[in-house]
Amino acid sequence: MEKQYWLISGASQGIGAAVVEELSKNAANVVIGFGRNAQKIQDLSMRLKNSPAQLDLFQADIVQDLDKIAEKIAKLPYLSVLINNAAAFLHKPFLETSPKDWQELFATNVFASVALIQKSLAQLGKNPKKAQVLNITSMGGFQGSVKFAGLSAYSASKACLANITECLAAEYSTSNIAFNSLALGAVQTEMLSQAFPDYKAPINPTEIAEFIVQFAEKNGQLFNGKILPVSSSTP
Ligand SMILES: NC(=O)c1ccc[n+]([C@@H]2O[C@H](COP(=O)([O-])OP(=O)(O)OC[C@H]3O[C@@H](n4cnc5c(N)ncnc54)[C@H](OP(=O)(O)O)[C@@H]3O)[C@@H](O)[C@H]2O)c1
Repeated sequence: MEKQYWLISGASQGIGAAVVEELSKNAANVVIGFGRNAQKIQDLSMRLKNSPAQLDLFQADIVQDLDKIAEKIAKLPYLSVLINNAAAFLHKPFLETSPKDWQELFATNVFASVALIQKSLAQLGKNPKKAQVLNITSMGGFQGSVKFAGLSAYSASKACLANITECLAAEYSTSNIAFNSLALGAVQTEMLSQAFPDYKAPINPTEIAEFIVQFAEKNGQLFNGKILPVSSSTP
């Protein structure tokens, strides 16, 4: 059985945890996942401990613990897919946002995601087949989509990561690595509840996780440098 080696950031809850759960069903998968909340990471590990996949879920902050994460990456024979899923969120009127707010959002959603891609490239390059970086972005950062008050910093950070996806696809066009971005619409998670407290999303984390894994496993090979809107609702 040919192994698939996955790295996912933000695995402690929401969409990231659901992706880990989906990946855990397949014995071919080796999954490295992390998040800051040690308890939630431990709970997920316990819940999935009898799954056929090999899971290494650990506590780490993508901003502060990059060396720890890089050590885990280096121990793999290669990487098949990096899913850049971890994200910070802010809902605040534009005029009230501080430089610190913008710095913190971009530190996680852009700078740390960029650093994680840099730390993963050599291992992705060793994949005997096509490897992929999948950046999870948002309809809020998708050009021409409906925008919402209070989400300027968050949406801008997601637009930035989407743009980086396109740039890297061009820069690595002769490599075995594809770079794509899934611009998600509303999915019922804690982040969505912060953004739209009274709104009920038509999609739950399990449903979107199935799509993300299927995209990465199969359809991802057909795309490179693409930002795909994955949404059935507004928001
Ligand atoms: N839900 C939606 O409607 C929606 C729509 C569009 C796009 N998205 C995108 O989908 C992705 C997942 O969002 P979600 O809805 O599942 O949100 P969520 O429930 O808030 O989960 C976010 C995840 O990111 C992790 N994270 C945040 N900062 C981190 C850091 N510094 N280091 C490591 N992990 C960190 C969190 O874990 P810890 O707190 O334990 O660190 C958590 O596991 C995000 O990229 C988000 O922008 C979501």
